[in-house]
Amino acid sequence: MTSQMNFYDRVSVLILDSGIGGLSVYQEMQKLLPHIYYIYCFDNEGFPYGEKSEIFVSEQIVKIMTAIQKKHLLNCVIIACNTASTTALPILRAHFSCPIIGAVPAIKPAARITRNGVLGLLATPETIKRPYTLDLIKRFAKNCQVELLGTSELVYLAEKKVRGIKIPINTFKKILQPWLNLQKVPDTIVLGCTHFPFIINELQQVFFNASMVHSGTAIAKRAFSLIGSQQNTSAHSFKNKAYCVKKNCETESLYPALEKYGFSILEELSL
Ligand code: DGL
Repeated sequence: MTSQMNFYDRVSVLILDSGIGGLSVYQEMQKLLPHIYYIYCFDNEGFPYGEKSEIFVSEQIVKIMTAIQKKHLLNCVIIACNTASTTALPILRAHFSCPIIGAVPAIKPAARITRNGVLGLLATPETIKRPYTLDLIKRFAKNCQVELLGTSELVYLAEKKVRGIKIPINTFKKILQPWLNLQKVPDTIVLGCTHFPFIINELQQVFFNASMVHSGTAIAKRAFSLIGSQQNTSAHSFKNKAYCVKKNCETESLYPALEKYGFSILEELSL
């Protein structure tokens, strides 16, 4: 085998989100699948997806995947966004032939571990309204009281935190106040947005007794079952690549974080 691996031989995975949220899924993927060529794409033009229509989000992701597939041969795609996954997965699977894994709220595991029977689903305003989400609750948490909190404010705060901006804990408390006022406060909180693992410490400070559940590990396990055996050999180290849809000062402020997660190249993707 030559030391230069053929472009088409390397196993490549695309992780896609509107912003930095998908990096929380990437962290989990890295643990199980370290020898993969990762392509990270954040749709900063469409951000925040949690305030966009279902049609907009689906069409935007079809455009992005089409543009990326012109540049890369993909072995697997992770839609690392609950807002997109709860609406677009059937459309994407009909359009593209490579395996597509989605991120959906981890209601089922949360319902198994709650002690007081109160679950909190923290997600974007769109995710909490989706029939897919409501169906998950009906199927897996019918014996629980499920409190829904849809907020884009926390999404923006996670974006800020990853850019190194400090946020006072009171800002989080204000947003989460509706749950603090409840007679029975959720003891299990589903992080139904991939941005939220980045603010888990702050959430834990507000709900110090609550268990936080997200779908990152489950997504990585699913990906491992699909492509684990095809991993590139450790001898080949690739420089992971990131794409955004529009380069601007906001994307520049993300360089240190992207670098930290192993994405040292950031390119603009024209759709
Ligand atoms: N990270 C996305 C999710 O999991 C949402 C962020 C947004 O609103 O764009 O839902």
